Amino acid sequence: MKVAVLGPGALGCLFAVKLRQSGTKVHLIDHREDRARRLEKNGITVEMNGTAEVEHPTVATSIPAGMDLVIVLTKAYSTGSLRLPPEVPVLTLQNGLGNVESLCTLVGSARVLAGATSEAATLLEEGRVRHVASGKTVFGGWTSCDGEPARAALAAAGFTVEITDAPGQTIWEKAAVSSGINPLTALLDVPNGLLLQMVEVRQLMRDLVVEAAKVASTEGYRFDHSLVEVAESMCMATAENISSMLQDVRASKRTEIEAISGEILRRATLASLPTPRTRVIYQLVRGLENR
Ligand code: PAF
Repeated sequence: MKVAVLGPGALGCLFAVKLRQSGTKVHLIDHREDRARRLEKNGITVEMNGTAEVEHPTVATSIPAGMDLVIVLTKAYSTGSLRLPPEVPVLTLQNGLGNVESLCTLVGSARVLAGATSEAATLLEEGRVRHVASGKTVFGGWTSCDGEPARAALAAAGFTVEITDAPGQTIWEKAAVSSGINPLTALLDVPNGLLLQMVEVRQLMRDLVVEAAKVASTEGYRFDHSLVEVAESMCMATAENISSMLQDVRASKRTEIEAISGEILRRATLASLPTPRTRVIYQLVRGLENR
């Protein structure tokens, strides 16, 4: 199987390396030519449990012909401008809401596989990633796309993978959890686990997740389990992880706040649902970005 992994961030590097180690032909795609050249030359290093492994996936600036699968792990704000080949299934495991809709516009819903991953990784520096915690990767066809080849490739690479027939639900669950964890870790400059140790902050995280779940319910998504518990378990499982949003803030990069809290706010407004905490948190992270 030939797989193109889009985005040389923490998760893109992790997925590219693990897929390559399992014998899949991997192209890691980085739109920045200078960085792509350096990554191709130096390889990608993944640190895990005190060991470091270097792999040399092919790094290119665009997706070559003949791919069987494209995995999108770019930042949510760049989804709309991706250049994707015709006829190839595209799997998004990106953060936030709105990525699927953008991909459906680009390639048609019948080619889109969508979901979320709970793998936690930190980009230590360009091409060097720490795999902090393993977690489930859940996805399914947005409409009719067959997810089995992608599931088999990822399972062979050692990922815990599940196919769902409700990918929208999976994306909303992850977005609700992220809306609690990511902005608070970014604003407070703490790893995920510390959110649980500060009583008021833990309560605020719970309130943010509840607000997001209410917005999800206006779109018909109902959860038969507590998303607050999912968020707290995620903080525990990824206690040492520096959330992607905090990694962005520390690197003075644009964050994914628009695709997480921003999108939740916009959808709440459409449903005339007040989400006061989400609004304040959104405004504070926007302030942090614009400092
Ligand atoms: O975006 C992230 O960093 C992660 O998906 C998670 C688990 C929400 C926080 O580390």
